[in-house]
Amino acid sequence: MADANEKLRSEFNQWAAAGRGEEMENHHVSIAEQTIARMGLRPGQRVLDLGCGSGWATRTLAELVEGGPGVAVGLDISDEMIFRARAASRYVENILFAICPADEIPWMDEYFDRVLSIESFYYYPDQEAVIRELFRVLAPGGCAFILINLYNENPYSLRWVDQLKVPVHARSENDYRRMLEEHGFAPVTVEHIPDLTPTPEHYSGVWFENAGELRDFKQIGALLLMAHKPEAERKK
Ligand SMILES: C[S@@+](CC[C@H](N)C(=O)[O-])C[C@H]1O[C@@H](n2cnc3c(N)ncnc32)[C@H](O)[C@@H]1O
Repeated sequence: MADANEKLRSEFNQWAAAGRGEEMENHHVSIAEQTIARMGLRPGQRVLDLGCGSGWATRTLAELVEGGPGVAVGLDISDEMIFRARAASRYVENILFAICPADEIPWMDEYFDRVLSIESFYYYPDQEAVIRELFRVLAPGGCAFILINLYNENPYSLRWVDQLKVPVHARSENDYRRMLEEHGFAPVTVEHIPDLTPTPEHYSGVWFENAGELRDFKQIGALLLMAHKPEAERKK
């Protein structure tokens, strides 16, 4: 596992150096905004952004929970991503960043009210260990919002599996639901979140054959897993 995490760190350090951390905001902002709207955030809450990259979403979360103990924490395995996230957030008071693998969250039990994770979960070598960590750090009644663009029900995304330089998991929404339920989350609800940004007439990138495919991919949308940690049983 240490080797796999080291490979991820090195790969995403290169993404960060090439400016791809900041670029991802344009690619993910639509699905992120729709998800954050579902998180029911309030001033004073504690929220975790797992696999935060350059920290653009962490800053949005910090603004929404500002007040009292409200804090947003961004964690990422890439030190270069975290350096950039910290630099871009230096005027935000209620924000913290740390470098760590998602399967070893350096935080106390039951601390967070909400977790957001955007386009990061399918990279985690040991997803079961990460789910255990999420269950541990979430407060009873808290909820993890996990957004995944690469999953079996979106066939376009499966083309990335062989093209990415690091191994990824390609799973179905039922696989994910089952994994989360097996670790105690209940209920686990699932939605598809379309990317609502306009698609250009002509596509010149590498991931799709043409603009029609990109439009289709965006309409199928990202998988949003909403995993609730049950309320603690009331003492009699
Ligand atoms: C596609 S980027 C998404 C970044 C950010 N959430 C966004 O939407 O801009 C995936 C991020 O997950 C991080 N990541 C990958 N594997 C990780 C792991 N095992 N533990 C923690 N972070 C990881 C990467 O370093 C990278 O910043």
